[in-house]
Amino acid sequence: MGNLKDIASEIEQLKETLRHHDYLYHVLDNPEIPDSEYDKLFHQLKALEEAHPEYLTPDSPTQRVGFEPLSQFEKVPHRRPMLSLGNTFSEEEILEFHQRLLNFLKVPEPNWTYFCEPKLDGLAIEVVYENGILKQALTRGDGSVGEDVTQNIRTLNSLPLTLRKSKDHSGSHKGIFEVRGEVLMLKEDFKELNLAQEEAGHTPFANPRNAAAGSIRQLDPKIAASRPLKMFCYSPGVVENLSISSQVEWMSTLKEIGIPQVGCDDFQKVQKVWNDFTPGSRVGPLGAHCKSIDEAIEYYKMILRLRSQLPFDIDGVVIKVNEYNIQEELGEVARSPRWASAAKFPPEQGETVINKISVQVGRTGALTPVAHLEPVLVGGVTISNATLHNPSEIERKDVREKDHVIIQRAGDVIPEVVSVILSKRPKDSKKFEMPTHCPSCGELAVQPEGEVVLRCINPVCPARLNESLKHFVSRRAMNIDKLGDKIVEQLTEAGLVKSFSDLYRLKEEDLEALPRQGKKSSQNIIESIEKSKDSQLNRFIFALGIRFVGEQTAKSLAQHFGDLESFLKATEEELLQIDDIGPKVSSSIVKSLDSKEFVHEARSLVELGVKFEAAKSGQGTQFSGMTFVITGTLPVKRDEVKDYIESRGGKVSGSVSKKTNYLVAGEEAGSKLEKARALEVPVLSWQELQSL
Ligand code: IVH
Repeated sequence: MGNLKDIASEIEQLKETLRHHDYLYHVLDNPEIPDSEYDKLFHQLKALEEAHPEYLTPDSPTQRVGFEPLSQFEKVPHRRPMLSLGNTFSEEEILEFHQRLLNFLKVPEPNWTYFCEPKLDGLAIEVVYENGILKQALTRGDGSVGEDVTQNIRTLNSLPLTLRKSKDHSGSHKGIFEVRGEVLMLKEDFKELNLAQEEAGHTPFANPRNAAAGSIRQLDPKIAASRPLKMFCYSPGVVENLSISSQVEWMSTLKEIGIPQVGCDDFQKVQKVWNDFTPGSRVGPLGAHCKSIDEAIEYYKMILRLRSQLPFDIDGVVIKVNEYNIQEELGEVARSPRWASAAKFPPEQGETVINKISVQVGRTGALTPVAHLEPVLVGGVTISNATLHNPSEIERKDVREKDHVIIQRAGDVIPEVVSVILSKRPKDSKKFEMPTHCPSCGELAVQPEGEVVLRCINPVCPARLNESLKHFVSRRAMNIDKLGDKIVEQLTEAGLVKSFSDLYRLKEEDLEALPRQGKKSSQNIIESIEKSKDSQLNRFIFALGIRFVGEQTAKSLAQHFGDLESFLKATEEELLQIDDIGPKVSSSIVKSLDSKEFVHEARSLVELGVKFEAAKSGQGTQFSGMTFVITGTLPVKRDEVKDYIESRGGKVSGSVSKKTNYLVAGEEAGSKLEKARALEVPVLSWQELQSL
C-alpha cells in the first residue's frame, strides 16, 4: 500500500511541477527549464499514469487531447450574457463617449479612471472553472446561448486546466470562475499553417481570425490540438467567492491564478515603443491604466502605431471604465455595456478594380490565380496584386476580370480579394475559367486527389524550374545573393541553366553574353556562386526544395544524418524516427530520394565543389549545451547571429531566464537587457560573442 501511496504522491508532484512550468512559460513568459527537460517530466507523468490508470484525472497536463470526435456541438446558456461593444471611429467619437458617461452619471468631472487594452481580432470564448478545474468552454453564440467547445479549448497549452492557488486562498478557487477572452492565432503561426495548407493542397485560410475560428469549430479535438492556437483573456463572467473592485485588480488576479492576458511580452520592437509610452501606467503585457480620457486617446494612438508590429491581429483598442462600482451604475444599453467602447482602427481593406487575372506557377507546380489590381492604398501600403489562392476560391467568390472588389491586407499576409461588389459588375462580364494547361509549359494540369490546387506535373516546366532556382539561390538556402530573379529567368530562357548544378557550370562569358549584363556584374555573380560552395548540409537540403522540407526539417535531417551520402540513403523507417518528421514529410522525402535524377543532381553539386562545413551539418561544439538570447539592433542581421550560434552547437531562445547563458545585445535593447541584468546573465556585444 505504502508503495502505491508513493506513486500517487509522485504523480501529484509531477502534475504540480508541470503546471508550475506551464505558468512560467505561458503567463510569465519566463521559462526556467529547457523544453527537453519539460518533455522528460511530461513523459514521466504519462508513463506513471499509464501504469496506474486509477490515478489518472481529467485535469492532468497529459489529458489535453484524447476525446472522441463529436457529432455536433451542444448548445449551452451563459450564466451571464456575453455582450458586444459599442464602437467609436475617431478621437471626437471617443470624447463623445466620455461625455456620455459624464451626462449619464450627472457629474461635472469623472470620478473614474480607464483601463485600456488592444481589441483582439479573434473568436470570443468563455471558459468556466469549477472549484479551480476547467469544466467548460463556450463560444459567444448569440450572447445568451453559446456552443460547448470544451474539447477543443482544452487542447490550448497556454490555458491552464487547473487554476493556480491565489494568495488569499489556502486551497484552489472555490465555486464558479468564468473568464472570457479571445482565441487567436499569431501572425507567424498563421503564415506557417497556411503554407502547410497550401502545400497539402487544402484551401488556405483567409486570415488568422478565420483560421482560429475554423479550428475551434472542428468536431475532432485532434485537429484543434494540431493548430497553433492561443487564448488571451480580458473580462470576468460569473466569479464566485472573490471580491474584485476594478479591471486593474482583475488583471493582477488573472496573472496570479495563471490565466494568460492580452499581449505577449516577448516582442522587442513593441517593447521599445511601449517603454516610451508615458501616459497611464502599464498593466500586464499590453494594458494601461489611464487616469483621463486624454491618456486613453494617447494609448489608442500608440497602439495604432504598434499595430503592424504586434504578433497578432487587432482591430482597435477597448477603453473600459476601470472601477466596477461605476461600471455597475452605468449598466448596459442595447446589449452593450455603457462603460466600454471599442475604439476601432481604420480598416486594412480597400476597394479597387481587377484589371486582369493571371495564373502563376510555383516551385511545386501549383497554379495560383493572381488578381492584377488598379493600384490602391490600403493601410498605408500601395497594393497592386492580390492572391486568389486556388480555383475553388475563385469559384466560391465568383471573382472575374473587371470586377470591383474589396481587398484586404492583414499584417504581412499577402493581400487577398475578400469579396466582389456585385452591384458594380459590368454587364458583359464573363466567368473566369482556370486554364486546363500549364501557362508556362503548356502541359495538361492535374488536380491531385484530395487537393484543391491544380498542378503542373511536368518536371522540366520552365516556370517550375525558375521558381526552384530562385529558391535554391535564396538567402536562407545557398545564399547566392548576386543572382537576382531577373538573371535566373534570363539564364533559363537562354537555355544556359536547366538544373541547379548548371549554375556551377556557368562561366563569366556565359553571363556577359546575356542582354544588359556587364563584365563587372558577371564577375560578381561568378564570385557569389563560388562563395556559395562553402555551404552547410542543412542549407543544402533545404535548397533542394523537397516538398514539405522547410528550414527546420532540413536542420533536423542534417543533424541526424551528418553527411549527404547518409541522407541520400535514408529509409522511411529511419526518417520516421526523427523528431518533427511525420509520415507525410517522410514519404515526400523518400519519393525524392527514389528519383534517380534527384540523387544524381545532389551528387553532381558535390562533384562541382559544393561542400559542407564540418560533419554533423556543420555543427561545431563550441557552444553546445548553451542557450543564448538575442536582443536589440545588432551590426549584422539577426539571422546571421543566430546562424553563428547554432552552427557552433548553441541554442537560441526567445526569452531570458536563469538558464540563459548569454544575452547578445545590440543597441536599443529593452526589457530583455533589464531582465538579464536582474538575473545576472552575462551580456555580450556581437564582437564579444565572436571572440568568446
Ligand atoms: S471587453 C463586452 N476587451 O470584442 C464586454 N472585449 O466587438 C466587454 N474583444 O464582445 C468586453 N478584445 O468579445 C474586451 N480586450 C478586449 C477585447 C474584447 C476583443 C471582443 C469581445 C466583444 C467584442 C466586441
